[in-house]
Amino acid sequence: TWTTAAFVEESIREIRARVGEKRVLLALSGGVDSSTLAFLLYKAIGEQLTCVFIDQGFMRKLEPERLLKLFQEQFHIPVEYVNARDRFIKAIADIIDPEEKRRRIGHEFIRVFEETSKKLGHFDYLAQGTLYPDVIESADTNVDPKTGERVAVKIKSHHNVGGLPKDLRFKLVEPLRKLFKDEVRKVGRSIGLPEEIVQRQPFPGPGLAIRILGKVTAEGLNILRDADLIVRQEINQCGLYHDYWQAFAVLLPIRSVGVMGDKRTYAYPIVLRIVTSEDGMTADWARVPYDVLEGISNRIVNEVKGVNRVVYDITSKPPGTIEWE
Ligand code: XMP
Repeated sequence: TWTTAAFVEESIREIRARVGEKRVLLALSGGVDSSTLAFLLYKAIGEQLTCVFIDQGFMRKLEPERLLKLFQEQFHIPVEYVNARDRFIKAIADIIDPEEKRRRIGHEFIRVFEETSKKLGHFDYLAQGTLYPDVIESADTNVDPKTGERVAVKIKSHHNVGGLPKDLRFKLVEPLRKLFKDEVRKVGRSIGLPEEIVQRQPFPGPGLAIRILGKVTAEGLNILRDADLIVRQEINQCGLYHDYWQAFAVLLPIRSVGVMGDKRTYAYPIVLRIVTSEDGMTADWARVPYDVLEGISNRIVNEVKGVNRVVYDITSKPPGTIEWE
């Protein structure tokens, strides 16, 4: 029978056998896959591993800080933190088109990744949190036709944007490649990852940048981060987090009139997007209890400056998508 302890031991042996004395690069994203991966690699090869965390500035409130703290203070795994917030926001300044926004974020990610990896020296291997379903999906694209070996052509955390440049084609270490998501979660839990990472809902690679419709500004990011945190807190508090595939906020670039105290307001609306789904391919809007919606709405309007209205998205997928961009 499969146990997490046996899996951890087996992968440590396998990683050592594959990598030998060579150096491995790993891009930490904050999800359960890359976090579990980092833990296994560090246990197996210690300082031969370099974890890089590229902060695009599009993560949820407090997540970059928590991730760094977890790795550095609890796991004692060194992390190379790259603050690329200004670069990313500049890269998409004035961009309204969703596809173009994603494309630019993807390209910027590859550029920062490339610069960082070159600065840190030579790496033979790239550790990727490839899971079993990804292996099947990318069966031919990742195999070097000459050697038959699996090589990195893309960065998994941004699988749908931009490939790696030719001179950056590392060999791959993929210790999670035989696992399904629920098994990764079990392993992650067994090595002490906090529940907020183990049970994290899917989060798009371009992050909050695609949840601010149209132009992304520092002001918009601050508003969305605060609203998004309230959504998470309220959904957690009523014990419904596990009932939903995703629950998040979207910021619209239009303003409407409201009244606060005896003053007229003219501010942005937040859209609540809360869905149920099996696999993200189709989804239904969640029948969230009214009192929960009420709690979220009251808190957002009262606590988040710049927002005076909260609306609930009642569109299923299809015809809607889960994200708004
Ligand atoms: P849509 O919006 O297409 O999303 O219904 C389906 C699922 O995919 C997630 N998503 C992404 N995940 N990189 C990712 O890793 C991305 O660029 C990306 N875009 C959407 C989305 O959150 C939902 O769970």
